[in-house]
Amino acid sequence: MTNLLSSAASVRQRATANESAEPVTVVGIGGTLRPGSSSEQALRVTLAAAAERGAATEILTARDLNFPMYDPGNGPVDAAAVRFLGAVRRADALIIATPGYHGGTSGLLKNALDYLQELAADPVPYLDGKAVGCLVTASGWQAGGTTLTSMRAIVHSLRGWPTPLGVVINSSDKPFGPDGTVTDAKLGRQLATLGEQVVTFARAQLVAAAS
Ligand SMILES: Cc1cc2nc3c(=O)[nH]c(=O)nc-3n(C[C@H](O)[C@H](O)[C@H](O)COP(=O)(O)O)c2cc1C
Repeated sequence: MTNLLSSAASVRQRATANESAEPVTVVGIGGTLRPGSSSEQALRVTLAAAAERGAATEILTARDLNFPMYDPGNGPVDAAAVRFLGAVRRADALIIATPGYHGGTSGLLKNALDYLQELAADPVPYLDGKAVGCLVTASGWQAGGTTLTSMRAIVHSLRGWPTPLGVVINSSDKPFGPDGTVTDAKLGRQLATLGEQVVTFARAQLVAAAS
């Protein structure tokens, strides 16, 4: 146990040492087309936390993910889908945000994730080895829980590594102010932790790959 703990501490130290030398890129995707989307707000706050940890960040909101339905075998002819695939290829880690729609992820997000089939033959297939922070907003806890579970199953099937913390937000509690800031301190800490976990894991992966 002691060895495990000291080994984790050592990975963290090496990852911190690597911070300035090799910055990680975290790509945030998700939200809804609804103005004032709470899932997009949560995504922005979490990305800001990742940026505070030194990550370069990029966001693709629902408007950037509004692709035609994925058509296997016909390739990503849509320019926005090509941009999305490029962003995922560049990402060391991702944060994915979805609303709970009827107990699962939104169709828009799932369709975007289906496009990752185009990465199947890449040197880094799908989300292989990439940390993925999962965020859900729903107007009730039940859909929040089922949607988070299903998102994590999707990430696993794409060979991504869901972070230990996943965050579920009950949007009926109105936890964001009109300017998008978090009004609930506990939620603010959760989102900061999610951003931190994604960056820490991405750095550890880079250190491991270089050793
Ligand atoms: C099509 C649709 C289906 C929804 N299904 C559920 C649901 O099953 N359970 C739930 O708690 N909320 C449900 N909601 C509410 C949304 O999950 C909630 O309002 C969420 O915060 C919306 O995300 P947004 O603020 O990013 O648009 C649904 C909303 C829509 C539009």
